[in-house]
Amino acid sequence: MMIVSPRPTASILETRALEPADGRLLSELGQSLSDVTRRLRFFSSAPRTVERWIAALLKADQDHHLAECLLHKDDFGAVLVGVAEVIRTDEPGLGEFAIAVADEWQRLGAGSLLVRRMARRSIEAGIDRWKVDRLADNHTLDAIVRQVGRTVAVTTAYGVVTSEHRLELESGEGGI
Ligand SMILES: CC(C)(COP(=O)(O)OP(=O)(O)OC[C@H]1O[C@@H](n2cnc3c(N)ncnc32)[C@H](O)[C@@H]1OP(=O)(O)O)[C@@H](O)C(=O)NCCC(=O)NCCS
Repeated sequence: MMIVSPRPTASILETRALEPADGRLLSELGQSLSDVTRRLRFFSSAPRTVERWIAALLKADQDHHLAECLLHKDDFGAVLVGVAEVIRTDEPGLGEFAIAVADEWQRLGAGSLLVRRMARRSIEAGIDRWKVDRLADNHTLDAIVRQVGRTVAVTTAYGVVTSEHRLELESGEGGI
């Protein structure tokens, strides 16, 4: 898939595990998220929620808590385009998936790319099912998660849809 950058300079896109040293980039991403994106990601637009999200991500150990980021680097510096994460549950092989992409980068393929990378990493880590919570009107999330897995269960309560997906990747998927 080709991703078209909204910035008109020579640039590269890179996915990698989020690192504790990414605090500044993560804060910039968190501060940039619109109220709509915050509501879709956290079911709340309160700034405190974003602060807690950043603190938790910076402690991601890449085993219990997997965090994968997409970075854009050009003459202006680096920006964090988005972050996908999976947190193991008590149920073997089941992880809770969540994702956020910066507003100016949405609908350009970044979410699909992060979903595929995280699906690959999850399977390598022994997690072959994702539990996903989304607001009922968040059809985009449902569409991109279905690119990497089959929906095996869905429940809805108070406007939040909880679905479970069995990860299924074609060989060769998961790279940039
Ligand atoms: C959900 C989210 C992660 C999707 O990320 P994204 O980068 O916009 O996703 P993509 O660009 O890969 O795909 C989104 C849509 O763009 C389309 N698309 C993908 N590449 C495209 C391209 N090059 N040109 C135009 N459209 C494209 C996809 O087909 C998809 O369309 P659809 O919504 O009609 O199915 C992002 O919208 C987001 O961060 N939302 C707020 C947070 C959130 O909802 N998190 C989920 C709860 S945890």
